[in-house]
Amino acid sequence: MRLDSSLILACVLLGSVLVWTVRKFSTASPFRNLPGPPSPSFLKGNIQQLSGRHSNEWVAHLAETYGALSKITGPFGRPWLHVYDPKALYSITIKDQDIWLKNNTVANLSLLGPGLLVTAGAQHRKQRKMLTPVFSIAYLRSITSVFYETTFKLRDGLIADIQDGPKEIDILGWMGRAALELVGQGALGYSFDPLVEDVHNDFAEAVKSFFAIALWRSIAFPVLVLGSKLLPPQWADWIADVFPSKRVQRMRYITRTMKKRSEEIIAEKRAALQEGDRSTLQQVAQGKDIMSILCNESVKANMAASQKEQLSNEELTAQISTFILAGMDTTSNATARLLYLLAENPSVQKRLREEILEAQAGEEISYDQLNELPFLDSVCRETLRLYVSVPRRILNIICRPTVDTVLPLHEPIRGEDGSLITEVAVPKGTVAVLNLWACNTNKSIWGEDAYEWKPDRFLSPLPRTVEEARIPGVYSNLMSFHGGSRSCIGFKYAQLELKVVLSVLVANFNFELSDKEIVWNNAGVAYPTVGKESSKPEMPLKVSVIRS
Ligand SMILES: *[C@@H]1O[C@H](CO)[C@@H](O)[C@H](O)[C@H]1NC(C)=O
Ligand SMILES: *[C@@H]1O[C@H](CO)[C@@H](O)[C@H](O)[C@H]1NC(C)=O
Ligand SMILES: *[C@@H]1O[C@H](CO)[C@@H](O)[C@H](O)[C@H]1NC(C)=O
Ligand SMILES: *[C@@H]1O[C@H](CO)[C@@H](O)[C@H](O)[C@H]1NC(C)=O
Repeated sequence: MRLDSSLILACVLLGSVLVWTVRKFSTASPFRNLPGPPSPSFLKGNIQQLSGRHSNEWVAHLAETYGALSKITGPFGRPWLHVYDPKALYSITIKDQDIWLKNNTVANLSLLGPGLLVTAGAQHRKQRKMLTPVFSIAYLRSITSVFYETTFKLRDGLIADIQDGPKEIDILGWMGRAALELVGQGALGYSFDPLVEDVHNDFAEAVKSFFAIALWRSIAFPVLVLGSKLLPPQWADWIADVFPSKRVQRMRYITRTMKKRSEEIIAEKRAALQEGDRSTLQQVAQGKDIMSILCNESVKANMAASQKEQLSNEELTAQISTFILAGMDTTSNATARLLYLLAENPSVQKRLREEILEAQAGEEISYDQLNELPFLDSVCRETLRLYVSVPRRILNIICRPTVDTVLPLHEPIRGEDGSLITEVAVPKGTVAVLNLWACNTNKSIWGEDAYEWKPDRFLSPLPRTVEEARIPGVYSNLMSFHGGSRSCIGFKYAQLELKVVLSVLVANFNFELSDKEIVWNNAGVAYPTVGKESSKPEMPLKVSVIRS
């Protein structure tokens, strides 16, 4: 008798504990009423599906099936948000940008230093304030001829490469070298690569493998994160230096190479400026590059002893690494994508060539003339709309609110229980993944043909729904360059670069697909490979010189 009642008591106790646990964990998810895909793994959640090399299909499925705001699962079953509703994006990137902070641990750990991609708060605002004027239209106008000069070298290098007739060449490799030289000449006032022949460039190779190494996907990553948190910086550095991992050592080599080169560039500029040595300054970019301007400012500020508003040496060095990285991988792959699309669509290529030749834009024309070419502009816009270079790079588009907040929606969504949801309460610390691509290709905003590449789209008035969605991107209703204070500071620079390179190349060469299959992959940046198995960035196209 006694045994029975204690057994019952035990059962009741155990039962209540179970019910309580289940309750707790089911109520623990603040988003249980939001639609969302199942999670295939407790450990990794949906991360693999979201960020794998061939994740485009799954991400399109996620966006289409679960709508503009859904729940996904992060590591260890954590509830994350997947967002592409324009109004929610507006809150995150503009209205409440001070509470929605990006997690920059990864960028920080990659030892980029305190540059724009890494800094936060007041320091970020200061840097942004100092850097914005140097990316002005006036600056771009003055730098256009530097872009042309460099691109003509690229043209001559290509001509030399295919002088024996049409040939299949790795266009991505050339675009990478050109992009590095364009950042070097245009932003840093420094020449990395003469571009005249097909030579190996160690520095370019180092920079190029930065994102591909994907340190944050390595097993070493959590250890390094922990190290950087617990240990004084010099110890953390030491640990990284002796860490028995090829990836980590490669990353250390890359960041060291970049840092060393950056320091050299700055020292050179400073010395020239202090001596008032105009001739050195004029050797490259006529002293109009961003770094000359910044160094000049900081030398002046030093003299005026107003230390507070200037960038420290460390910050300047970090900006250089940041510019090189941000400027090179994205634009080289974007230009390659554009040339691929033109090879795939010969009629568009022909039409573009006609516009360019008629305006003589294959030769040097002014910034304003170049921007007045409507078809060139539409081709660039449409490509950047559909093929965002950084579609959902986890490190760039994840943010978390520092306090509890609310995300309002442009269009209500239907919850799991059938009710309409117009806003979602988001607890502090929730990870939100912003799907920039899905916002750019939302059919109810852009029309039924939103997934198709149609440059003509931008030649006629856009659907009313585009205006109404009030998309918070800095560029052309698109999220391609992000919005708010985290938007890409160089987006006009990138556009100019794209246009100059494209106009010179299309005027001088014909591009055709080769019989190798090109596959586009996701890493830090979307990049092409031959076939699905290979992970080596390359893009062979058949190139021939147009002889007039
Ligand atoms: C950022 O991410 C790292 C590693 O993924 C994590 O350890 C860290 O707690 C995060 N920091 C913030 C502020 O969210
Ligand atoms: C980056 O690292 C520095 C020191 O190395 C630290 O002060 C800063 O808080 C870190 N930033 C982020 C976003 O982790
Ligand atoms: C293209 O993107 C990939 C992946 O981020 C990167 O490794 C590569 O350096 C980029 N550019 C070139 C020219 O390969
Ligand atoms: C487009 O965005 C709206 C919200 O603005 C959303 O309700 C809808 O599901 C999206 N449609 C598609 C096809 O992505």
